[in-house]
Amino acid sequence: MIIGISAGRKEGVTSSVVKEILECSDEEYEYISLSGKKINGCIGCVRCATDNICKQMDDWNEIASKLLKADAIVFGAPNYGGTINALGHAFLERMFCFRHREVFSLAGKLAVIVSVEYAREKENTVHNFIKKVFDTQMMAIVESVASIGYSQCYTCGFGGNCGVGNVVRDHGFINEIKDEHYPPHFRDQTEAVFEAHRVGKLLGSILKNRKTLS
Ligand SMILES: Cc1cc2nc3c(=O)[nH]c(=O)nc-3n(C[C@H](O)[C@H](O)[C@H](O)COP(=O)(O)O)c2cc1C
Repeated sequence: MIIGISAGRKEGVTSSVVKEILECSDEEYEYISLSGKKINGCIGCVRCATDNICKQMDDWNEIASKLLKADAIVFGAPNYGGTINALGHAFLERMFCFRHREVFSLAGKLAVIVSVEYAREKENTVHNFIKKVFDTQMMAIVESVASIGYSQCYTCGFGGNCGVGNVVRDHGFINEIKDEHYPPHFRDQTEAVFEAHRVGKLLGSILKNRKTLS
């Protein structure tokens, strides 16, 4: 079972990439959107030290138990303000509970990293942050997929006439934002779609082979 998690908007780019990887794995999966879920940041109380279970009462522990049971985790987050968004950061902070007393509950768990920002660079800030956390959890990172994000300026209603927004930056001042102005959604990013297919298939092959061996 693969758990796929997106820290982006409910129907945003991150969710599309994560879902595509899950679909292409040809394995059983569960997709979880963090959008609308309550995931506080770690408060450093260390009450998880004795049993590796976080004591905060929010949506974390239900997801945490799924992470523990999963054979692989696909985790994606977007760039907000030059770094990983707060929801994604909070989620990764809470993985602290898995690391006490040399337990490392996620050690060896297969993982795929998804990162979304305006410039499509594979080893970007968001990717590097997720990787750092997964490394400290001793997880086995299989691959990563990066996709171009979809600026909110195109849908805020004021984009064509806003001198500090991305629409004017990319196209100058325009009266109407037409289809040809929009940045490519994930589906139209040939390279990113290919990478999602390739990585999903790879993850599925590893899991299938493990089942054959066991
Ligand atoms: C508050 C905020 C800040 C953002 N800052 C950046 C940024 O600094 N760099 C960047 O590349 N994208 C930035 N973005 C754009 C998001 O990365 C982009 O909209 C992405 O598609 C969001 O992911 P989603 O579609 O999965 O929701 C920002 C978006 C928001 C809402």
